[in-house]
Amino acid sequence: MDKINVSVTINMENSSLESNDESSVHTDEIAHRPKYKILEEIGRGGFGRIYKVYNRHNDGMYALKRLCFEGEFQDNKYISAEVYCLSKFKHPNIIILEEFILKPNRLYIIMEYAEYGNIEQYVTSNHKISTSDIMQFFSQLTSAVHYSHSQNIAHRDITPSNILLTSKFDTKLADWGLATPCGVDRSNPILSDDYLGDYRYQAPEVIRCTPFDPLPTDIWSLGSILYFMLTCNPPFEGSETTILHNQTNVGIILPETIVNSNDKLENAIVKTIKSLMVVDTNERPIIETVSKRVSSIISRLE
Ligand SMILES: Nc1ncnc2c1ncn2[C@@H]1O[C@H](COP(=O)(O)OP(=O)(O)O)[C@@H](O)[C@H]1O
Ligand SMILES: [Mg+2]
Repeated sequence: MDKINVSVTINMENSSLESNDESSVHTDEIAHRPKYKILEEIGRGGFGRIYKVYNRHNDGMYALKRLCFEGEFQDNKYISAEVYCLSKFKHPNIIILEEFILKPNRLYIIMEYAEYGNIEQYVTSNHKISTSDIMQFFSQLTSAVHYSHSQNIAHRDITPSNILLTSKFDTKLADWGLATPCGVDRSNPILSDDYLGDYRYQAPEVIRCTPFDPLPTDIWSLGSILYFMLTCNPPFEGSETTILHNQTNVGIILPETIVNSNDKLENAIVKTIKSLMVVDTNERPIIETVSKRVSSIISRLE
């Protein structure tokens, strides 16, 4: 992958953070209270942990992502990618960065707190999303991806656990660790050669582990998110081999009730899923086309 060069303002002030982690408790705590108080762990992933924190300076709640690294953080391409995207991107449906705090071998990312967590948690805790809400969420997500692609960056990890829901029921695309530059010339893309992420939502070309154009893979994943919101299940499950076999030989299977539905909106959602989850990357629409299709469906709702 082409490395993203990072140039951002990082807070290295020692007294910003109060942690339940012993190595981060400050000697100067008595002199003045740290800015952030860690309240609870809200997520855990490959690189670190995510906590809900309280900002004593402005009385607000934030999410803190703790990333551990060896050497310089700029040498870690996944941390660099997240730092670059969060510091550069300004979009209503992309999680907002508050600040970075750098310590030896650790980077703390303080960002806006999404009250309802991720949409996987939301859906699996029995909150079936109505079809009109599915379209609203999807429209916001499409807008975030459209913005990212217009900045020549592919997200590459669009999964329900990386889409967050705020208290106002706005969706926010988060977790930019796998983001990668895709090049300015669409006919000559920078190919990706790392095959990470959650395969249940990944395109066949990623699971096949051959260098791939990262933009169409985001489009496939958008389709898989729509499938997840509609059915409460991932579109494909099982081992990598099973998923790839089913993607290429069987195709998308939807519950009978949805296939036989007379609901026009449900039918439009199914049609959209099928148009995005197409095995041949040349047949997949580009994000501009997806945005237009989504706007047209939404305008018929109003
Ligand atoms: N800003 C946030 N507000 C609320 N919850 C968050 C926030 N950021 C992350 N989380 C929670 O933590 C989980 C993991 O965060 P993520 O950034 O996806 O890390 P990882 O790279 O480990 O997957 C998310 O799925 C979500 O449940
Ligand atoms: Mg994640």
